[in-house]
Amino acid sequence: MQLPTDIADRLRTLDQPSIVQAWHSLDDQGQQRLLQQMRSIEWSLVSECLSLSKPGDPVPQAASLSWLHQARSPQALLMGSSSNHVLPCDALRTGRHALSRGAIGAILLAGGQGTRLRAHGPKGCYPIGPVSKASLYEILCGKLLAVARRYGRNVPLAVMTSCATDDDTRQYFENHSFFGLNSHHVFFFCQQEVPVLHATDKQFMLETPDHIAMAPDGHGGMLTSLAHRGGLDWFVSKGVEQLVSFQVDNPLIEPLSAEFLGYHLLSKAEMTTQVVRKENPRERVGVIVERDRTFQIVEYSDLPHLIADERLSNGCLRFSCGSIAVHCFDISFMIRMSHNRSALPFHVVHKAVPLLLSNGTIQVPENPNALKFERFIFDLLPQAERVSVVEVDRNNCFAPLKNPLGSQSDGPEHVQRSMLAKARAMMESAGVHVDDGIPIEIDCAHILDVDDIPHFIAPGTRMTAPTVVGRSIPISITVSETFHKTQGN
Ligand code: UD1
Repeated sequence: MQLPTDIADRLRTLDQPSIVQAWHSLDDQGQQRLLQQMRSIEWSLVSECLSLSKPGDPVPQAASLSWLHQARSPQALLMGSSSNHVLPCDALRTGRHALSRGAIGAILLAGGQGTRLRAHGPKGCYPIGPVSKASLYEILCGKLLAVARRYGRNVPLAVMTSCATDDDTRQYFENHSFFGLNSHHVFFFCQQEVPVLHATDKQFMLETPDHIAMAPDGHGGMLTSLAHRGGLDWFVSKGVEQLVSFQVDNPLIEPLSAEFLGYHLLSKAEMTTQVVRKENPRERVGVIVERDRTFQIVEYSDLPHLIADERLSNGCLRFSCGSIAVHCFDISFMIRMSHNRSALPFHVVHKAVPLLLSNGTIQVPENPNALKFERFIFDLLPQAERVSVVEVDRNNCFAPLKNPLGSQSDGPEHVQRSMLAKARAMMESAGVHVDDGIPIEIDCAHILDVDDIPHFIAPGTRMTAPTVVGRSIPISITVSETFHKTQGN
């Protein structure tokens, strides 16, 4: 079959002769499959990506960061601190009011391929619960369920998947009855993909002889994909005014903390972001920097070591605000940005991608050999009229699962240790004693915070066996009537 002229023209304009060659070596069926794929590609995105990286260009380096010399760490509001310009009690009241009005929606970013974790299937299915073996999805959805119970309103949730995770994620939610969430309040949407380029000749790479290697367009793809698939309208129709986005990899996260939401609302911010104080200069988290009231996240991979290591005269890191990727957006800001095609630039990321050789074998490279193109949702920060930054306690809010068992950091054993420590601290605050070495886990679907613990375990109890607190029959629990009423909505 001849390559259809429109596709042949596109490939010529984009200087991609290798795909034309591959086409000619395929049988009829193979050509049909490749054609079908090429018809589904979003070519305007491809042109944008290719314009960032021309054949003959060296491997792209991070954009110049010389402006960082005039930047500083932003002044963050500290959770629970009465020295904030907004008092924690006022923030709490405001956040609670917003939750009880049903004005808050959530976006779970779960489109990543989880390559570093080397687990089979979507990362959200990873059984991380140290006692329960609950998955990341179960834990994170549980947190929304607990908020819905406490405030008597469903929290609309949009789950962003990618081609690699979409079917499995939807099926997993179905199989687990949406973890107790009302399925009418869950919206799945799949992010777009862009072709992967060979790093040296900037040609498309093949995954199989009749399939171009593609990769998700980064979590920033959330903005356009959510808008195009009707997700923003869906949130508006549910009465949502503020959206909180968070990553699938962190089971400690408190994305709908009423105090956090209150700071966002009382600061009249278009975007508010959670940070932790960086543990060490080389910690693999993006840092939030501020220059002339403009805020930006600089990714850890882009931050030169010399700058990352800089300290102030008081010994603190010069750039100490580590992003934990929890962002709250005013929905009107999101809508405005979704109409702005240049709101989120593509970043070029240098990665190791398996390569199909001409003899039909796959070569798995040891070093990065390919360019992927990703947008980052946090690049909306500089566009927001007002930004606020809220510092949360790392022990309560941050233990991301990035690496496989046996890694030096961010592996399952580190995450589980943090989950156990948080649960133990919560039990002690509720007046419950946990014997040394006894693993205790909190069932996030039933225990939103320490106030819920006495419903399940009386103060003064001594715990001597591994337990998932909240899984047992509650001593007494009041489920708001409004919650039952709104479940059917
Ligand atoms: C990310 C942040 C970093 C932050 C850290 C906190 C980026 C670029 N960097 O680093 O600033 O300090 O988390 O843990 O985000 N995802 C998608 N679609 C994609 C790519 C990623 O949904 O196309 C999702 C993943 O499922 C995951 C999250 O985004 O939930 C983070 O992606 P990852 O590549 O793991 O970022 P990190 O390098 O860990």
